[in-house]
Amino acid sequence: MSQQFDVIVIGGGPGGYIAAIRAAQLGFKVACIDEWKNAAGGPAPGGTCTNVGCIPSKALLQSSEHFEHANLHFADHGINVGSVKLDTAKMIARKDAVVKQNNDGILYLFKKNKVSFFHGRGSFVKAVDGGYEIAVKGAKDDTLTGKQVIVATGSNARALPGVAFDEENILSNDGALRLGAVPKKLVLIGSGVIGLEMGSVWRRLGAEVTVLEALPTFLGAVDEQIAKEAKKAFDKQGLKIELGVKVGEIKNAKKGVSVAYTNAKGEAQTLDADKLIVSIGRVPNTIGLNAEGVGLQLDERGAIVVDGDCRTNLPGVWAVGDVVRGPMLAHKAEEEGVAVAERIAGQHGHVNFNTIPWVIYTSPEIAWVGETEQQLKARGAAYKAGTFPFLANGRARALGDTTGMVKFLADAATDEILGVHIVGPMASELIAEAVVAMEFKASAEDIARICHAHPSLSEATKEAALAVDKRTLNF
Ligand code: FAD
Ligand code: NAI
Repeated sequence: MSQQFDVIVIGGGPGGYIAAIRAAQLGFKVACIDEWKNAAGGPAPGGTCTNVGCIPSKALLQSSEHFEHANLHFADHGINVGSVKLDTAKMIARKDAVVKQNNDGILYLFKKNKVSFFHGRGSFVKAVDGGYEIAVKGAKDDTLTGKQVIVATGSNARALPGVAFDEENILSNDGALRLGAVPKKLVLIGSGVIGLEMGSVWRRLGAEVTVLEALPTFLGAVDEQIAKEAKKAFDKQGLKIELGVKVGEIKNAKKGVSVAYTNAKGEAQTLDADKLIVSIGRVPNTIGLNAEGVGLQLDERGAIVVDGDCRTNLPGVWAVGDVVRGPMLAHKAEEEGVAVAERIAGQHGHVNFNTIPWVIYTSPEIAWVGETEQQLKARGAAYKAGTFPFLANGRARALGDTTGMVKFLADAATDEILGVHIVGPMASELIAEAVVAMEFKASAEDIARICHAHPSLSEATKEAALAVDKRTLNF
């Protein structure tokens, strides 16, 4: 007997579980199906983000940053800790515990909101009168019928052609987050977000890290001035990044990996490493969904085709998050999940793609929202720029972390903020003010006239806004 629901969500990552909760809040009878298993085979909702993405990477970034501080920076504060010992197993176990707290938290939220959770793989069976039949294959098989279906099946790591992940020597994000020991030599292919975050973790813990990047420019999507400043900091830390390379043959032997490549000068090179992390982007995941069986349209990348409101080509079927177009970010997936639940309820859910913040959680952190200076130039926009260095910020000096700056870009005529770009301490938190400002269509002067607490890093934001009008007070 099929169980009837108003809304069935397939996938329990940030897109899916948030959509399920919002739909339940709106009074619908909701099911959420997720197949992720923990080490014991039990449910581990939260998707890539919770299990092998945002959360575990931030846990390891935090631990490795403490290690680096204890090793290199405590002495500056007059704290001498002697030789610092690393317990990798404990660090990984702590990360696993943080992940589990989040898995359990989501199961609790499902209960609290009366979302029925099914552990297993969901797939379309057929369209039925007024909805869709969905099969769940797991420890226990079920058949569900839903009037509306939200697909939130996420993404998987992209492998290099012919070089499969073995998660022993050739690692995706999954293996990269659970290495049992610090590799002596580590190579990463791709200097995007994962390359920089995971490269930073293992470099801080003592690995000799080289990142090989195909493009000739470093972090092409980031404002050039900010990317340049970040690159200077990474160079200083000893994170080796080679740009403009062409990766060739990869040999995987028991004792390690060798990576052949041609460098930017056209010279043939080989790097031998204990481990290789491949971080060259992610591919939308529709494996096992039976999309073709019900005629759910995919594009050439394998992403589910949706309109601006996340409607697919099938009536009553929606898709959100990494499995559709747009940035592969947890908060983007969540916003889409909320908006779809509200649209199903006849409300006007909306996602503003112009104000989705990006954060790279390296040290210094890199965060931005809106357009970069190179984008403004390319579209011939008349703009004003203002920057303020953390070097001139009292709180940054007290923290002992004065790398980087805040940069504002504003319309030359109206002063409306068009983009805010930060490289420096706590950029991930500071960017929120810029997002709020842009959502409210604030001008740079609006931020410049707001009282910011002293001493705080946020004063650098205020000063960068003042800099747009060439009237910084502390620089
Ligand atoms: P997912 O999180 O991938 O969830 C999809 C879920 O659906 C999974 O649990 C999967 O098992 C399940 N599923 C798939 N098919 C089926 C099926 N047929 N039946 C049942 N279940 C199914 N983003 C940020 O915003 N900030 C970060 O700091 C950040 N860090 C990251 C670090 C790493 C190392 C990685 C890899 C990613 C990171 N991301 C980060 C990206 C973020 O993880 C994704 O954008 C986000 O998880 C997408 O959410 P989603 O719900 O679309 O998909
Ligand atoms: P990415 O798209 O950020 O970076 C991939 C990099 O690999 C690019 O610079 C690309 O030019 C390079 N590349 C591609 N093919 C290559 C090749 N053959 N040889 C050498 N270089 C090559 O992808 P990444 O780092 O894998 O992360 C995937 C996604 O996960 C991110 O785009 C982001 O959406 C999400 N993510 C978000 C995080 C955050 O918000 N802090 C953290 C980690 C991941």
